[in-house]
Amino acid sequence: MDARATNAYWGRTGLERLILEALAAAGKHVDALTIDDLAPADQFHSGGKNATQRLARLANLRPGMRVLDVGGGLGGPARTLAVEFGCDVTVVDLTESYVQTGEALTARLRLADRVRHRVGDALALDVGAGTFDVVWTQNSGMNIADKERLYAGFARVLRPGGLLALQEPMAGPVQPVVFPVMWARDAAASFLRPPGEMRGVIAATGFQVRAWDDVTAEAVGPSTGASGPAHGVQRIVMGEALDAIVRAGQRNREEGRILMIQAVAERRSPPASAPPPRTSPMR
Ligand SMILES: C[S@@+](CC[C@H](N)C(=O)[O-])C[C@H]1O[C@@H](n2cnc3c(N)ncnc32)[C@H](O)[C@@H]1O
Repeated sequence: MDARATNAYWGRTGLERLILEALAAAGKHVDALTIDDLAPADQFHSGGKNATQRLARLANLRPGMRVLDVGGGLGGPARTLAVEFGCDVTVVDLTESYVQTGEALTARLRLADRVRHRVGDALALDVGAGTFDVVWTQNSGMNIADKERLYAGFARVLRPGGLLALQEPMAGPVQPVVFPVMWARDAAASFLRPPGEMRGVIAATGFQVRAWDDVTAEAVGPSTGASGPAHGVQRIVMGEALDAIVRAGQRNREEGRILMIQAVAERRSPPASAPPPRTSPMR
């Protein structure tokens, strides 16, 4: 999907107001929000905040690490990494209304010194090579067909030895996927590959896999068949369309059509440059 299609599918106007109204209706004090108050409304992936914490522990994230959250949406995972793991996080997302809303929520929680939001395409990351300790990406690559380019970009922005931490839906042993899913109304916008192929892409783009967990059973949420609360981001963004997504999600999970994987991979160091060829002294 290009930027226009991505914004048309994911984007919503008045999103900050919708989120705050939904949280107020759920009894939250919107002038004193915590990351836990916000979690149902800003962690836009299966498993919610628990899944974010799980992946952060799997990657052994430490205070001071510089993290690039690619396709970071409204910034729920980024704020969790900042508050609970001490990371410094840059969020890149192609959907402008998510970047604006994410910025507003980050400011509301007084985290702007540790979390920043930028509009950007995961396929053309506009940051210097080797800038980050961690690339974090959670339920964000499903609309992207060119996985080779996506993961090569992740490798480029990481320092050697840096970590890629991902949670991604992947194609299960039974196909095809039943639509609609959270990220696509039909197969034209959905690009899942099986775990074996994804591991191949990750290895071929310069990574060594350190951990690979199938979390399908534990990362439940509306895209896997569990209905969420009225102040859940899935309901706020998808509205009534969510009901069909929940029904399809249950089939996709139960019938093995979609798997949820959490993985951590280390960026291999580039091979040491070869010594210059020997030349014969000129006579
Ligand atoms: C399901 S949301 C996940 C958001 C966030 N990672 C989270 O877990 O809360 C998927 C996100 O992927 C983003 N996205 C899709 N294609 C993208 C691309 N090419 N570049 C950057 N972001 C993209 C969408 O804008 C959306 O915010």
